[in-house]
Amino acid sequence: MMADSILVAEDERSSAEYLKILLDEKGFEVRLAANGVEALLALEAGSFDLVITDLRMPSMDGFELLTHLGQRWPNLPAIVLTANEDVADIIEAVRLGAVNYLLKPAAPGSVESAVERALLTRQRSVATDSTVPELIGSSKAMVDVRHRVLMAARSDVHVLVTGGTGTGKELVSRAIHTHSGLSKGPFVAHNCALSPSDLFESEFFGHRRGSFTGADRDRRGLLREAHEGVLFLDELETLDLGFQAKLLRVIDDGEVRPVGAERAERVNVRFVAATNRASQVMIDEGSLREDLYYRLCGIEIKLPALADRREDIPMLIAHFDPSDAGGFTPEAIEALCRAPLPGNVRQLRNLVQGARAAAGDAAVGLRHLPSDQIEGGRSELAQGAGSEGVPRGISLREIERRAITQALEDCDGNRTQAARLLDIDRSTLRRKIAEYEIGS
Ligand SMILES: Nc1ncnc2c1ncn2[C@@H]1O[C@H](COP(=O)(O)OP(=O)(O)OP(=O)(O)O)[C@@H](O)[C@H]1O
Ligand SMILES: [Mg+2]
Repeated sequence: MMADSILVAEDERSSAEYLKILLDEKGFEVRLAANGVEALLALEAGSFDLVITDLRMPSMDGFELLTHLGQRWPNLPAIVLTANEDVADIIEAVRLGAVNYLLKPAAPGSVESAVERALLTRQRSVATDSTVPELIGSSKAMVDVRHRVLMAARSDVHVLVTGGTGTGKELVSRAIHTHSGLSKGPFVAHNCALSPSDLFESEFFGHRRGSFTGADRDRRGLLREAHEGVLFLDELETLDLGFQAKLLRVIDDGEVRPVGAERAERVNVRFVAATNRASQVMIDEGSLREDLYYRLCGIEIKLPALADRREDIPMLIAHFDPSDAGGFTPEAIEALCRAPLPGNVRQLRNLVQGARAAAGDAAVGLRHLPSDQIEGGRSELAQGAGSEGVPRGISLREIERRAITQALEDCDGNRTQAARLLDIDRSTLRRKIAEYEIGS
C-alpha cells in the first residue's frame, strides 16, 4: 500500500522540520510548503491525503488556505497548527472546514493521534447531507445547536457540551457520534460522578489480572474500549483534579498503560464531555483545569434552557406523544408552553407521557396535567410552606417528601441531577430518600 502523503504548510522552519521528522518516522510521505500560496501550488501539482497548516503565515494565511481547500478539495481533511490557545481562531478554522487543531509545540503523541483520526474518519466518509433529525426544535437557538452539532460531527476536535439538567446534553453527544465519521466505532458513556477517585486509574486505563487485590480478571478500561470511537464523559465537573491532569496527558500522548501492565498502548479516542455548569465558572472556582478545558473545547455547544425556546414546546409535545390517541387540547398545550419547566426537555417529556397515560385514548386536557408543575409561579412547592396554594394542614415533612419525589421523577431517578435541582448535596439527598423511604 502506498504511504499516505501529507502536505505541511508552515512558515516557521523549526516547527516544519519537527513535523517532517516526526511524520517521516511514522512512514508518511511529507511535503513542506512555507506559506499558503506554496501549499496551493503543491496541491495543484500533486495528490495528498491530508493537509496540516499553520494559521499565521505570510502571503497567504491558514484561514485563506482553508477557504480554498473547502472550494477546490472539499474531501481533503485539514488540521491547523496554532501557537496560542485562542478559542476564536480555532472555532473560525473549524468553521472553515478544519477537522482538528494542534497547539504548538505539539507533543508527538497528539500529532500522531490527530493525523490517524483525520485519515480514519476520511476513509469512513461522513454523511454530509444529514440534518440531525433527532434534535427537535425550530427556534433560532435550536437551529444554532444543530448547526454546531454538524460542525462538530464533521470535524475531529474534542467537544464540550454545556447546559442545565434535561436540556439534551447526552442526546447531543450521541448525535455528534452518529453523524461523524466515527459512527461505526464505539460510543462509550461514562458518568464521572459515579467513580470513586481511587478507582479512576483502573476504570479509565484498565488493569491486568492480579495487579491488585480484587483484580481477578483483566479489565480493558474506558479509554481502550472507546478506541477509534467516542468517549462521552458526563458530569465532567465531578472529575477529580488530579485525574484531570492524567486525562490531559492521555489526550496529549494518546497512550495508556493499564494498571499492572508493563507497556503502554496507543489509543485513539475522541472526547465529548458534558457538564451542567458554565465552563468559565468551573475554571474560576478551580474545579476544572484550564488546560484540560482548552483541549476539550475545540467546539463548545451550549444548550439553551427550554424556557428560552418555548416556541419549540408544541413540536416537542407531538414528538413525545406520537400516538394516534386524541392529542392535546389547546388549553393543555398552552399550559405546557407557560409552565416553568426547570427540568427542561426531560420534565416536559415526563409530563407529556404521564398525561397520556392518565388520559388513555382521549385528548389530554388540563385536568391530566399536575397543577403544581404547570402553574409556575403559583406552584405550591416552588413557593414553599406558608404561601398561598399549599394545601392546608400539610406538614413540612410532606412538602419535602413531595419535592424530592418530584425532582427524582424529573431527573429520571438520577440522584446527582435531582440533588442539584433541589440545591442540596448528594449525601443529604441520599439520607432523605432513606428517611422518607422514597422509591421503596
Ligand atoms: N431537542 C430535543 N429533541 C428531542 N428530545 C430531546 C431534546 N432535548 C432533550 N431531549 C430528550 O430529553 C431527555 C433528556 O435529555 P438528556 O438526557 O440528553 O439531557 P441531559 O442534558 O443529559 O440531562 P442531565 O443534565 O440531567 O444529564 C431525553 O429523553 C432526550 O431524548
Ligand atoms: Mg445527561
